[in-house]
Amino acid sequence: MLNAIRQAKADQPILLTRGDAVIGSLTPMLPTERNAQLAARWRNENREAYSSWVTATPESALAWLRGFHEREDRILFLVQDEYANPVGHFGAVILDADEGLAEIVSAVRGSPDAPPGFFYVVYHTVTQWLFRHAGARTVVACALDSNPKPTRVMARCGYRVVGADHVRLVQSGDTATWTKISNGRLDHKDRLMIQLECTQLLPRNDE
Ligand SMILES: CC(C)(COP(=O)(O)OP(=O)(O)OC[C@H]1O[C@@H](n2cnc3c(N)ncnc32)[C@H](O)[C@@H]1OP(=O)(O)O)[C@@H](O)C(=O)NCCC(=O)NCCS
Repeated sequence: MLNAIRQAKADQPILLTRGDAVIGSLTPMLPTERNAQLAARWRNENREAYSSWVTATPESALAWLRGFHEREDRILFLVQDEYANPVGHFGAVILDADEGLAEIVSAVRGSPDAPPGFFYVVYHTVTQWLFRHAGARTVVACALDSNPKPTRVMARCGYRVVGADHVRLVQSGDTATWTKISNGRLDHKDRLMIQLECTQLLPRNDE
């Protein structure tokens, strides 16, 4: 599985297609200043996509991108539309190569310009790549219950809800982290962190 990550970091972009048409691409999101500016903006605009809330700066985003670039178990793709405009980013992490377990992380639509359904193609394509090229047998993801869009897109791809944990936003310094609550009284600000799992991709619904 790690070999597939290495190759994807070195190889040609993964094409996003609909029928015979190329509608966009996925390329490794390199730690450049331009990408750090984008990543910082997208993170600050999409706090609910992350398990911790912190105000990102281009510097912190650059360090975050370097982590993806340097660590062999993960990749962050820059999502581009058919005109090579950046429209978001999308990450994948190998959790357990022996078990064939991978996770989708940091899936963010950064621009409203890509048409509705575009990120469905991104989720489908990356999940298919994990199954076919990275040897994944199970792909997992999680999303807050207050943030239903990713869950809806993933359900269209064949992800099923397999669990949910009560979580609470716990502040520590500049960072607030959604933390599992194992006991205690539930607060109206608490959320459910929904866990999703895909073992079989559904066929594309748009071709
Ligand atoms: C998660 C995220 C990337 C998904 O992007 P998206 O824009 O919702 O997804 P799509 O581009 O597939 O568009 C989905 C919409 O297009 C519609 N659509 C139109 N044609 C479609 C087609 N052919 N196929 C699929 N959907 C289609 C869907 O009905 C859907 O509308 P709905 O949300 O009202 O149900 C985006 O919501 C996001 O960035 N959220 C904030 C960050 C986040 O929460 N990330 C996930 C962390 S777990």
